Amino acid sequence: MGETTKRRRGGPRSVADWTEGQPYDRITVEKATPTVGAYVSGVDLADVDDETVAEIRRALNENCVLFFRDQGMSVDEHISFGRRFGELDIHPAAPDSGAHREVLVIHADENSARANGEEWHSDVSCLPAPPMGSILHMHVVPPAGGDTLFSSMNAAYEALSDRMKAYLDGMTAVHDGAHIYGASDFSRKDGAEYPRAVHPVVRTHPETGRKCLFVNRGFTTRLSGVPRDESDAVLEYLYRHMEHPNFQVRFTWQPGSVAFWDNRSAQHRAIWDYWPHRRTGNRVTVQGDIPY
Ligand code: SIN
Repeated sequence: MGETTKRRRGGPRSVADWTEGQPYDRITVEKATPTVGAYVSGVDLADVDDETVAEIRRALNENCVLFFRDQGMSVDEHISFGRRFGELDIHPAAPDSGAHREVLVIHADENSARANGEEWHSDVSCLPAPPMGSILHMHVVPPAGGDTLFSSMNAAYEALSDRMKAYLDGMTAVHDGAHIYGASDFSRKDGAEYPRAVHPVVRTHPETGRKCLFVNRGFTTRLSGVPRDESDAVLEYLYRHMEHPNFQVRFTWQPGSVAFWDNRSAQHRAIWDYWPHRRTGNRVTVQGDIPY
């Protein structure tokens, strides 16, 4: 299969291809809130054809995050589903060897000192080309709690004042992996450096053309080109703004639930309120583009 054909599998990949509000033939999509998130039913993610993948991609572009129930995928089927949307990233803190290196195990139990993703973030935004999306398949859930929050970064951007939009126009920010991984369960044992990148504070979604805020508490360490105190104050303002409940949806997991989120247009935060109970799932991460 030629490169062009491969890149186009799974539906629209450019702004020119993008149309919103078309009906779905292969899947049922029900909005979770007017702004962000949708429940998708009528699909077995272990067995999807090209048309279904294209509709899932379109639904993701429209809703930032999709929720599926009762998915019985094996690890290999999970990887195959992820690959329908692009190459899979290997997490910067993944072990150097072993099977299924593209799978990140998300796990917390009575022995955990922390849980993954407890701070608002967009996955691995410290990479030069951060992931387009992440697909988390939950296997074990606690008796209560362990929800995940998602927030629309397009809605957050649109709600900024025109003066703030003008201030941020053309500004860049530093995203540093050491800031989050250095002191976590993902810390490197080999002494190698974590990725670090400079990205626009406002990025353009490559498929919808929408503008999205692209700084996050997890990875962003400072705004470029302004004094440290100004950077700290503006970033704190943006974080508080983007965490407003109006831009959010909250997902309650069940065994077999899948969330597929778009890291270009959404941030998320895992809630660790279930200690000492166990919560376990597998995540694969689809490669993305250099933000612009
Ligand atoms: C993550 O991928 O950041 C973790 C999300 C979660 O555990 O809900």
